[in-house]
Amino acid sequence: MKINILGGTGQLGSRIVEVLLQAGTRPEHLTVSCRNAPRARRFADLGIEVRHADLDLPETLAPAFAGTDVLMLIPSMADVEDRIVQHEHILTGAASASVGRIVLSSFSAARTDSRFLIAPYLVYAESKLRVSGMDWTILRNGMYLDPLADWAPALARQGRLPYPVRQGRVAYISRDDLARASAGALMQDGHSGQVYELTGPEAVSMPQLAAALAAATGAPIVFDCVSEAEFMANCREDGIPDRDSAILASMYRAVDHGECEQVSEHVELLSGAPAETVDKYLRRAIESPDVH
Ligand SMILES: NC(=O)c1ccc[n+]([C@@H]2O[C@H](COP(=O)([O-])OP(=O)(O)OC[C@H]3O[C@@H](n4cnc5c(N)ncnc54)[C@H](OP(=O)(O)O)[C@@H]3O)[C@@H](O)[C@H]2O)c1
Repeated sequence: MKINILGGTGQLGSRIVEVLLQAGTRPEHLTVSCRNAPRARRFADLGIEVRHADLDLPETLAPAFAGTDVLMLIPSMADVEDRIVQHEHILTGAASASVGRIVLSSFSAARTDSRFLIAPYLVYAESKLRVSGMDWTILRNGMYLDPLADWAPALARQGRLPYPVRQGRVAYISRDDLARASAGALMQDGHSGQVYELTGPEAVSMPQLAAALAAATGAPIVFDCVSEAEFMANCREDGIPDRDSAILASMYRAVDHGECEQVSEHVELLSGAPAETVDKYLRRAIESPDVH
């Protein structure tokens, strides 16, 4: 069986390739499709075929997918409108290359009534895949834990975690655990036509998250429930473009409406082990920053 990882140079995609190799998948059974071949050099050095696939150049996609049984589709971070066009390109290329099954990385807030500004793309991407005629598996990834570990030193200096969330909880999950579950969905039979919610083992409140960050850093960090306007102003100070901070703010609106608090056991089902807790992950990632 030939597995092709589209987006295999990214932080999630490269972890998926690593898990597949650790699980015994032979390099000749793997392909990494990416637009930036030098970023995939370490995989090429292991004997994995690296193919050129640029989501904005549809003519590159069918050749990149030729001979693929299962395609891991990790969407780009482009604007919603561009992502929709890229999704069309990917599905057209995959259909003409006769790909057997597509495993799509989606997000918890993939619902028509979501507050998250990216949700229209997520709903479209899932729906379009379901009617594509190819077999499919949808992985609704929970919110990444990894950026919190990166942000922890600054939070420790500030002593506060400023999010515009009043009551929402989040079932955070790390890219490591998402990669383990995604690899399971790619390697195993029986996941066709299934939607999995890939979440951490618990949904934490923002005060609980601040306490976990405090325990992991050893610094006093408390939750500060800021207004959306204050959150946007903080983002601007950090140099985040307004378009991106508006998307982030909408994600926390979704959090406050309970869109990211569902807890499922699908990570264990797909990978054989439950996802790490927030406490355990943050301690591990903050103690050894090179692990995430
Ligand atoms: N669950 C969450 O909390 C959360 C948070 C943020 C993002 N996400 C999702 O996570 C996914 C990104 O995962 P990641 O963490 O691995 O991000 P990442 O490290 O930024 O990886 C993005 C990948 O997309 C590739 N890419 C971008 N534009 C492309 C194009 N035009 N053609 C071909 N490849 C292209 C990049 O390739 P290059 O190496 O060429 O740049 C890279 O491999 C996105 O689907 C995003 O929506 C989820």
